[in-house]
Amino acid sequence: MDTADYIKRHIRTVPDWPSPGVQFRDITPLLQNPKVFRVLIDQFVHRYFDTTVDVVAGLDARGFIIGSVLAYELNVGFVPIRKKGKLPFTTVEETYELEYGSATVELHTDAVKPGDRVVLIDDLIATGGTMMAGKRLLERLGATVIEGAAIVELPELGGGDKLRASGLPLFTLVSFE
Ligand code: PRP
Ligand code: ADE
Ligand code: MG
Repeated sequence: MDTADYIKRHIRTVPDWPSPGVQFRDITPLLQNPKVFRVLIDQFVHRYFDTTVDVVAGLDARGFIIGSVLAYELNVGFVPIRKKGKLPFTTVEETYELEYGSATVELHTDAVKPGDRVVLIDDLIATGGTMMAGKRLLERLGATVIEGAAIVELPELGGGDKLRASGLPLFTLVSFE
């Protein structure tokens, strides 16, 4: 079976959660199964193994799960981009709209150096607001986001196209129409 199909079969769809009309794409079954989890992580590791990457930045919270493992495997540092109020040192912040609500994310001002080549990772791209906010934060500190990576893209919400139009290359494994 195709690897993307294998991964997709382990993502659970929960209708009308957290609000009516939302088809929630739940990655927890993927994480619970050690074989699929390894296949998943290997997809990202192979993508960046021969690329110069200085930092993996992960988006709070689900981006932390795959981002930290990816950073470990690539032997680079991991940087968390957190929801507002969680980071103790000086931060930069960006506010954005979600499929359901709005949020503010923060990044420590010493998290990256100017010129650092960063892979920005999350579990899923819906409207693209979260990843766009993360990209802006990293760029405000002078880093270059070489690619945005996610397990899932939801094309009908247009986030992937919006991010690509902003000049961010994307690597995604599975899409749900
Ligand atoms: C979800 C998901 C992505 C984001 C995608 O995170 O994990 O980060 O929404 O939506 P967007 O492309 O429209 O911005 P959420 O903020 O729900 O919370 P969590 O990761 O903390 O579970
Ligand atoms: N984040 C934003 N939209 C989502 C969805 N439909 N499923 C899972 N996470 C999401
Ligand atoms: Mg998230």
